[in-house]
Amino acid sequence: MSILIKRILFIFFLIFLIIQVIQPVRNIDYGQVSSSDLSKVYKVPKNVESILKTSCYDCHSNSTEYPVYAYIQPLSFFLENHIKEGKKELNFSEWGLYSKRKQSNKLEAVENQIKQGKMPFSSYLYLHHDAKLSDEKIKEVVNWIESTRAESKK
Ligand code: HEC
Repeated sequence: MSILIKRILFIFFLIFLIIQVIQPVRNIDYGQVSSSDLSKVYKVPKNVESILKTSCYDCHSNSTEYPVYAYIQPLSFFLENHIKEGKKELNFSEWGLYSKRKQSNKLEAVENQIKQGKMPFSSYLYLHHDAKLSDEKIKEVVNWIESTRAESKK
């Protein structure tokens, strides 16, 4: 290896070390389930709740279960960005703060996203196999959404 390449590699290594210092404020609620959580607004059956918690809450709630790689930059940066963007679209922890109309629209959006297999998205599934939704799980969530939407229209 030429001296130049060694130097360049060394500089990259230094940059990698230095950026480790930059660590975001974590999206963790320390076990405090918020009073506006989805589960406080509707009767959510255990199976549906556990599917949403495993597959969606990391990016769509105020509490993320951080994997080890989340502490390594620049991965941490990408993950934090997903959480920020995901929460902006949909936050299950703040469900009770949405208007009735928004709740209904968001439930419909959830149904569409999972039926089309768009959520959770593939780069996340690559590292979180347990978050993958089987046809069975999709059916359970869709059935619950349809009955909940019908109920809230009464
Ligand atoms: C790795 C993070 C991540 C996970 C896990 C995740 N999402 Fe998302 N989700 C996002 C991001 C980022 C956006 C906003 C950008 C976009 O639409 O692609 C989003 C957008 C959405 C939207 C809004 C789309 C729209 O057009 O209104 C819905 C609905 C949604 N997600 C549902 C879900 C559901 C349901 C799950 C679990 C089955 C889930 N997401 C899992 C990151 C995630």
